[in-house]
Amino acid sequence: MSYNSKPISFVVLCSGKGSNLAAIIAACASGVIPAKVTAVISSSPEAKALHIAETNNIPAISLPASSIEDRNLYLVDQVKEIKPDFIVLAGYVKKVPDSLLEIFPDKIINIHPSLLPEFGGKGMYGLNVHKAVIEAGKKQSGLTIHLVSSEYDRGRILKQVSLDVAPEETPESLSDKILALEHKHFPLVIREFILETIRDEK
Ligand code: GRF
Repeated sequence: MSYNSKPISFVVLCSGKGSNLAAIIAACASGVIPAKVTAVISSSPEAKALHIAETNNIPAISLPASSIEDRNLYLVDQVKEIKPDFIVLAGYVKKVPDSLLEIFPDKIINIHPSLLPEFGGKGMYGLNVHKAVIEAGKKQSGLTIHLVSSEYDRGRILKQVSLDVAPEETPESLSDKILALEHKHFPLVIREFILETIRDEK
């Protein structure tokens, strides 16, 4: 999709294995997401997500590990240079700096593997989330896709999908089930976000 022949583009920020990134790239290729991933930026040089980007001919950028300030300055500089229409966080475990939120207000989307506001916030990532859900005896969990605000996991919710927590559930099995749901729903929400928000502005 484009307006005045300028295709819609976005940057994906990752820290880990990048299975959502792979689903997003596939959805761009099939046209489900009417836009292009112009760069993948990772907070970790070891992230498998960087390899996924490279194999799809998408520029892969690793952030410096020297200090939080250096990392965030570099991140903002890179994004300013790339000039995406919006940003997607797909397993980015670092806090997004306010300086980036100021440039992209209501234009940064995150996915979280629980039904926020429960089991969100600092330290709630990876298997920690699913362990906490099981320990709390929850009968349901799920995923939340939301806009990023200056408070961890608290921005406006775009979509939530729930599933039952089975009696014999382990953090790993819950993680697998929720990830499969993420791969299905995240691309569709990004599509809707583009159709409802980004396209109108272009
Ligand atoms: C997902 O569970 C997502 O909800 C969370 O981080 C995980 C990323 O997984 N924010 P992957 O790197 O996309 O495989």
